[in-house]
Amino acid sequence: MKYMPETTPFIFCSCQYGAQTALKKEFATTWPQFKLSFSRPGFVTFKVPEEFPAKSLPTLDLKSTFTRSSGISLGSVKTSGQSERIQLTKQIVENAELENIAHLHLWRRDRSVPGERGFEPGRDSETDLLAEEIAAVLNLGKLQINRITQADQRVLDIVIIDEDHWWVGWHQATKTATRWPGGVFSIQLPDHIVSRAYRKMEEAIRWSRLPMKPGDTVAEIGSSPGGACQALLKRDLKVIGIDPAKMHEALMKNPNFTHVRKKASEMKRSDFSSVKWLMSDSNVAPNYTLDGVEDIVNNKRTNIRGMLLTLKMIKWELAAELPSYLDRIRGWGYQYVRARQLAFNRQEICVAVQRSRSKRR
Ligand SMILES: C[S@@+](CC[C@H](N)C(=O)[O-])C[C@H]1O[C@@H](n2cnc3c(N)ncnc32)[C@H](O)[C@@H]1O
Repeated sequence: MKYMPETTPFIFCSCQYGAQTALKKEFATTWPQFKLSFSRPGFVTFKVPEEFPAKSLPTLDLKSTFTRSSGISLGSVKTSGQSERIQLTKQIVENAELENIAHLHLWRRDRSVPGERGFEPGRDSETDLLAEEIAAVLNLGKLQINRITQADQRVLDIVIIDEDHWWVGWHQATKTATRWPGGVFSIQLPDHIVSRAYRKMEEAIRWSRLPMKPGDTVAEIGSSPGGACQALLKRDLKVIGIDPAKMHEALMKNPNFTHVRKKASEMKRSDFSSVKWLMSDSNVAPNYTLDGVEDIVNNKRTNIRGMLLTLKMIKWELAAELPSYLDRIRGWGYQYVRARQLAFNRQEICVAVQRSRSKRR
């Protein structure tokens, strides 16, 4: 196959390497009318039925925890020569007669689980350079390359499936993560990060947009060695790290940081009375995480406004339990509960929880 433009509507979804099975199961429940078409680790396409309102597709909210980015599929090119791939991509784009495209997002399908053998998802200088080269030959006017879009802007997506195989699609930006190239927030790392959890926390804050303010008190259950607390301290929050294990010395020096060297269950509930935001990243099964958090938020002496909870999918089958975990959290009186497998999550998902929310997308 060299060149395959799509005639009937298909959508593409990218996800974490290995999460595609969970994504397909999610679709079987939420979008049973979409039929699986192409699948590789980290990338899946679905055929959309003819009768589906095509106009809704560029901004369709798939309500999918495991979909990292998505859009309308325009087709794929598979051939060994790069200049030929670029020309065939151009043909696909011209056939589609796209209008008002302002951005080009080009990224690689994940090759590994985040954090494994040094792999982290997202754009890099190589993908940016290639995108520049492609943008120069497309007749789409001046395109911004691998930048965060504004809401409602239209994006041409090119996904490198394998070195000789590219997928072409487009979408219109809506919610926060749909504005990021490949649904991955490009994090500016400080000179030293204490742990990978720094990336996770950065992405969780950007995605959830929890309205945390400098001076607010945040507690993290499962805080050692401290990458997530490092990201919180950068925002001038007062941070309580709860973990029986040792924290990195860089945190212990920070006057805004307090380490409680205990399990969360060993603390008095009144210790949480000043805590506005609760984070949890314990390496235990989701129900244990939720038991611990429930005990804190349901106590009369606490008033937790919002949370970022990491739920570890100790085995993938737990993904099917996700709706019941979210219902359980709503049952504690929190109105806004959303789940996403973040790009920097491993075999786990992030749940963003808010009691009430200011009007923001
Ligand atoms: C994935 S690590 C956390 C990484 C950390 N968030 C960071 O930023 O580096 C999980 C941690 O959960 C802690 N943990 C497990 N059960 C806990 C509990 N009941 N209370 C507090 N910490 C707990 C473990 O000691 C371990 O350090």
